[in-house]
Amino acid sequence: MLSTKEQERRIGQLLRSMTLAEKIGQLWQLTGCKASYKKLIRKGQLGSLLNLTGSRDAHAGRIANEFQRVAVEESRLGIPLILGRDVIHGFRTILPIPLAQASSFDPSVAEEGAAVAAREARAHGIHWTFAPMVDISRDPRWGRVAEGCGEDPVLTSRMGAAMVRGFQGGRPDKPDRVGACVKHYVGYGAAEGGRDYNTTWIPEGLLRDVYLPPFHACVKAGAVTVMSAFNNLNGVPTSGNEWTLRQILKEEWGFDGFVVSDWASIQELIPHGYCADKREAALAGLRAGVDMEMLTDCYRENAESLLRSGKLKMAWIDEAVSRVLRIKMRLGLFENPYTDEGRAAEVTLSDENRAVARRAALEGCVLLKNDGLLPLAGKIRKLAVIGPLADAPVDQMGCWVMDGQEQDTVTPLAALRKVPGLDIRYAPGLASARENGTRLFGRARKVARAADAVVIFLGEEAVMSGEAHSRAFLGLPGAQQQLLREIAAAGRPLVVVVMAGRPLELGPLLEHAGALLWAWHPGTMGGPAIADLLTGKASPSGRLPMSFPSTVGQIPVYYNKMNTGRPQETLRPVGLPIGTPLDPSDFTTSYIDAEQRPLFPFGFGLTYTTFQYSGLKVTCGRDVVVRCCIRNTGRRAGTEVVQLYVRDVAASRTRPIRELKDFQRVTLKPGASAEVEFRLVRDQLAFHGVGGRRVVEPGLFKVWVGPHAEQGQEGQFTLR
Ligand code: NOJ
Repeated sequence: MLSTKEQERRIGQLLRSMTLAEKIGQLWQLTGCKASYKKLIRKGQLGSLLNLTGSRDAHAGRIANEFQRVAVEESRLGIPLILGRDVIHGFRTILPIPLAQASSFDPSVAEEGAAVAAREARAHGIHWTFAPMVDISRDPRWGRVAEGCGEDPVLTSRMGAAMVRGFQGGRPDKPDRVGACVKHYVGYGAAEGGRDYNTTWIPEGLLRDVYLPPFHACVKAGAVTVMSAFNNLNGVPTSGNEWTLRQILKEEWGFDGFVVSDWASIQELIPHGYCADKREAALAGLRAGVDMEMLTDCYRENAESLLRSGKLKMAWIDEAVSRVLRIKMRLGLFENPYTDEGRAAEVTLSDENRAVARRAALEGCVLLKNDGLLPLAGKIRKLAVIGPLADAPVDQMGCWVMDGQEQDTVTPLAALRKVPGLDIRYAPGLASARENGTRLFGRARKVARAADAVVIFLGEEAVMSGEAHSRAFLGLPGAQQQLLREIAAAGRPLVVVVMAGRPLELGPLLEHAGALLWAWHPGTMGGPAIADLLTGKASPSGRLPMSFPSTVGQIPVYYNKMNTGRPQETLRPVGLPIGTPLDPSDFTTSYIDAEQRPLFPFGFGLTYTTFQYSGLKVTCGRDVVVRCCIRNTGRRAGTEVVQLYVRDVAASRTRPIRELKDFQRVTLKPGASAEVEFRLVRDQLAFHGVGGRRVVEPGLFKVWVGPHAEQGQEGQFTLR
């Protein structure tokens, strides 16, 4: 790779020799594989493509090279193309959806998974992926929660940074790495009502404390690009937002890569009501610091006349072009523009890649209930497998899968059929997760009755989550609750496995289930991972990265909320019987007709054993050191995700009742114990005070070390 100094010298040299049209060409990205693009590329007027090739192209590498050759060998300056694609959670080997990866609370899962995705994608001619997505969201109605890491900024930061490391490696120019693109900058996950693309209102303190940190963590991890988002943020759309892009990202954080707009989001400044026409949109995008325009041609059409009018500064264009060239150099595209066409077969879907996907799926499943039924090992011979998601290879891959293929996916049914000693009888009960009819119930009932136990696979099809797939109701779709009731009535021990792209409202499901395993959309190797967990070959260790609402009406429900002036100290029973007198002593923040607490809190997840926490010690010196003893009190080995929460009791801008500061996965044999130590540096206690200033304020802090956001050993310290 060229030294930084040499890179900057070459950038300067190129800039001096580029025409305006060639400069604008570097700032434009088009989609698909059209022969007509070659003419633009040859003239130096198109610098990037997305979705040029995918895994379904038998000769993806060759096509990529064919287009690259036009750029490198037939254009005047020979500047290579940068080819992007949405490789969100795997390329051919599909990893669990990012929300499931986050459930592992294990950054190495995300890092290894991204490395697998990078290896396969790069071998198919892709240089750059539009991931990770690190949008915090407190609203499971939003379809895109599947693509992110949930509601917490610390967890999302750790997972996002790990994905960046996995995609890029230490050297993103290596032939098995791709450039990362952190998205969607910023606040996109706070869409009103969970409606995709919707308006967001986020005060500066909240933006800086919750929504921005994951982006900053990814930038610090070396992410080469950032994608501006679709949302209107406090009245200024994020793809025209000078404050977030130029001031915070580029100036405050010193980001030296480039910003690409989201799909047509420059032109969308017009319907937002921020710009009158494409000319104004081009000016707003370039002024804000969106360096590359995806899809639309506002920059291309208007840059010249805007420059002539004096409204657009040549310095903005030159800066944007420099950033794009810098990243093309950093990805090694000037030195090695071509893809090794022979590599795809060797690296795609390799045993190693599938093993990574299997471990990720295993660690991403969360056990939410177990009355002792799981693991099934040794207890069950005849097992009924029921439900529309037991054998749904496409659906188990989840949303945002462009390249994963049905035939490569191992479903739970296929995996369970391979378990020695299990006699599997299968009946789907419903042809799809959204079927409303009951025509297949009869056979499912029969199969259930004849078995020693039943595992029923319910949930959402892949298409029910993801971009533009928000939901207003979060129940199990179709006739699934009805099917569950019928199967439960068979009276056999009943395990429910849910595959979904978001937390759902469970309704009566929990009462029927003897055990509930939340598998999200677990990807290519979801089947074997789930079979390992059900049979006890492996133990569940996942934890929830998002709170589960007990009802949609509770949303937003998230753990790091403010206390209010009237917190409900003692939970009020749900329901208000007729004739209940008005009781001013109970004028607390709550509902009269629904639970106050989530059904399952953030961080929650069971294992096949039990853990006891004791002996919390807190010492406050230069750093705050928190120690706690964890003991495996059960009869099986297990992994506990030990979580550290803090509350700054009184502050100049009020702080949440708890904030996750750190976590560790600890694996213990039965009876074994370990002392877990967390070290908090002062900066981890900081927040953004009035006026956006980052401050650490002295005073009393509470500390908890525990298994989730609502439990734990409590301690405190005073910061002087
Ligand atoms: C729109 C999506 O919002 C974004 O996540 C994606 O990367 C782009 N389209 C490109 O496909």
